Amino acid sequence: MIALASDHAGFAYKEKAKELLTSLKIPFKDFGTQSTEASDYPDYAHAAAVSISQGECDRGIFICGTGVGMSIVANKHKGVRAAAVESVLATEFARRHNNANVLCLGERLLKWEMAQKIITTFLDTGFEGGRHERRVNKIHSLTSC
Ligand code: RB5
Repeated sequence: MIALASDHAGFAYKEKAKELLTSLKIPFKDFGTQSTEASDYPDYAHAAAVSISQGECDRGIFICGTGVGMSIVANKHKGVRAAAVESVLATEFARRHNNANVLCLGERLLKWEMAQKIITTFLDTGFEGGRHERRVNKIHSLTSC
């Protein structure tokens, strides 16, 4: 189950992401927002990140104007590893090396075609494990988050 979240600045891409996930037959849960009316990104990022931290959702796609605010909030939550990325390559390594479980995108920074490629890369790329597993474990063991 994919947790989706956006503020007003990411709302249009969240709706497009829902269409994409539906076409791929991947289940999702939408944590809002539900319009382009001005809203506060922490409200939606916190709610969606809790769903990952508590195991209700496996991964998340969080979208705001830049992806930065969403990632700052998401990374406050235990077990969440959020990556704000703007390229396919960074997304690939965020999965392979960091086992990122939340993808943060900036609707104001990316054309939808690129955002779509980044989302499918996030969904399709696995974690390499091995030495990276030791490092990822240290993220959580040394910061209690
Ligand atoms: C909203 O104007 C904008 O600040 C927000 O979407 C996000 O980019 C924050 O990181």
